[in-house]
Amino acid sequence: MRLVNCHNFHDFRHLAKQRLPSPIFNYIDGAAEDERTYARNTASFDDCDLVPNVLRGSESVDLHVNIMGQRLDMPIYCSPTALQRVFHHEGEHAVAAAAHKYGTMFGVSSLGTASLQQIRQQYPGPQCYQFYFHKDRGLNRAMLENAKAAGIDVLMLTVDTITGGNRERDLRTGFSIPFRLNLTGLVNFAIKPRWAFNYLVHEKFSLPQLDDYVDMSGGAVSVGRYFTEMLDPTMTWDDVSEMIELWDGEFCLKGVMSQEDAVKAKEVGATGIVISNHGGRQLEGSRSPFDQLQEIVDAVGDDIDVIMDSGVQRGSHVLKALAAGAKAVGGGRFYLYALAAAGQAGVERALDIMRTEIERNMRLMGVSKISELNRNHLRYR
Ligand code: FNR
Ligand code: LAC
Repeated sequence: MRLVNCHNFHDFRHLAKQRLPSPIFNYIDGAAEDERTYARNTASFDDCDLVPNVLRGSESVDLHVNIMGQRLDMPIYCSPTALQRVFHHEGEHAVAAAAHKYGTMFGVSSLGTASLQQIRQQYPGPQCYQFYFHKDRGLNRAMLENAKAAGIDVLMLTVDTITGGNRERDLRTGFSIPFRLNLTGLVNFAIKPRWAFNYLVHEKFSLPQLDDYVDMSGGAVSVGRYFTEMLDPTMTWDDVSEMIELWDGEFCLKGVMSQEDAVKAKEVGATGIVISNHGGRQLEGSRSPFDQLQEIVDAVGDDIDVIMDSGVQRGSHVLKALAAGAKAVGGGRFYLYALAAAGQAGVERALDIMRTEIERNMRLMGVSKISELNRNHLRYR
């Protein structure tokens, strides 16, 4: 399998699986417990059909959307994800460069393996910073100040990780950062020499957003332990209010799932929310964001930008979410498998395929701009 043979999400996933040591592949590919929420995220799109209109085509189709003061040339962005340099040695640089080329937003994670400042300087275009709220308030303040000084456009506070999700694949492989693996894990690294070579000869693994504050040198820490031990489980709406005031800019909450919380987010002054269950990686049994989208849109209207992620694999999924009322859509694995498969070239191809699918399906729907999509285009089975 090669990159030119990748035509959809499943092809990229297949190639990523071939190239990555299995503990890393399973970290990306896995989710919480029985992974039913993970499966439902994508399956929920199948309970809803698109209803096209005919004989209203136009020469050109405009895919752009505006969210949180940013213009995105296409309605899907690369949601912030951790540890990208572990997936491919080009890491965050590959994702930033590809997103910039396609005129869309990407995010750097608090657990990013490239420096926020450096990425901001090198790649103009909409960039968000995904913020994990730590127990250490000094660290939180310093992170906010760094992001402000770097000129970040949007702050995205993740609110669904106050404790680690139960990811059983990671328990089996012993996946942790920096690496410490059990024997099976080690064997799996040894049989992917190309990955191992690239990982070793390129820049050393680091977590620039946290390195000055968190000492990871004492040993490996699992992502679950990081969430449980370092993030603040008592974070409240008052803390969010305070952050919004300090940040004084575009601010969204990632991981909102209920109407009540969406309304509160609006009341405390957030400019956006991302309806998300973290790609099924946290609360097993959680409802899917697409299933939850309409009632949240109805509750908050246009006062705040409602975005969703989790389970998006296809252009048609993006169109369904937009027709149901989302202002834009985020995706994680759709670009992560592509990154693992082929670095920047992979992410570019994933974005290109996504853009082509969205554009083709808009034409087939009789829609020439995103704002024309509405609930008349949807029927639930
Ligand atoms: C994530 N996600 C995530 N979210 C976040 O707020 N901070 C982070 O550091 C990460 N890291 C991360 C790593 C990996 C490997 C994955 C798969 C996901 C969640 C991510 O931003 C997004 O919400 C989900 O990936 C969306 O689901 P799909 O598109 O992967 O189904
Ligand atoms: C994850 C992180 C780090 O889902 O958010 O693994």
